[in-house]
Amino acid sequence: MSAPAHDPANEPATFTFTPENLERAKQIIAKYPEGRQASACMPLLDLAQRQNAGWVSRATMDAVADLLGMPRIRVYEVATFYTMYNKTPVGKHVIQVCTTTPCWLRGSDDVVHACERKLGIGVGETTDDGEFTLREVECSGACVNAPVVQIGDDYYEDVSPELMEKIIDALKRGEIPKPGSQIGRQSSEPVGGPTTLKAFTTTQAD
Ligand code: FES
Repeated sequence: MSAPAHDPANEPATFTFTPENLERAKQIIAKYPEGRQASACMPLLDLAQRQNAGWVSRATMDAVADLLGMPRIRVYEVATFYTMYNKTPVGKHVIQVCTTTPCWLRGSDDVVHACERKLGIGVGETTDDGEFTLREVECSGACVNAPVVQIGDDYYEDVSPELMEKIIDALKRGEIPKPGSQIGRQSSEPVGGPTTLKAFTTTQAD
């Protein structure tokens, strides 16, 4: 069963950076030349999102705009353009399955279905215990290890439906599964070992 739909009318009316995050925000802003503070919009939205349980409310975006002296609409434009900013509350674990062509050719639809079965929710929904949100996203930029699933800040690669279920089981137990290739690949090496430059590899080993 999924959590109830988000009602913007019930969003918190205010957002204030913690003293630590306000200090961090000032450090980020200081990286940009005078008059270019708007360039800090994206990292500040990310900072605000992390403080705000993983999503940016209207008040959160307003706080970023006010801190940067930007028109609020410009911050809304940035936040609504990028999928990395969640505009509604999310679960503790946000599972983002890439379903763009390379991942799709490698079975990402089956990975999505495995998540739906395992979690009892559909794409775009959050479990009613607030633990998991399931999303489909466009190319995650790691196509060579498709299918790719992002969970929080980590990438899980070479994922199959069975491996996806194991990842979810581990998260349910409170563990953080090892990110990266789930079939033991080192970076993006060929599955099954080298396919080219074998003579060179042998010479080096000798
Ligand atoms: S298509 Fe999935 S990572 Fe690029």
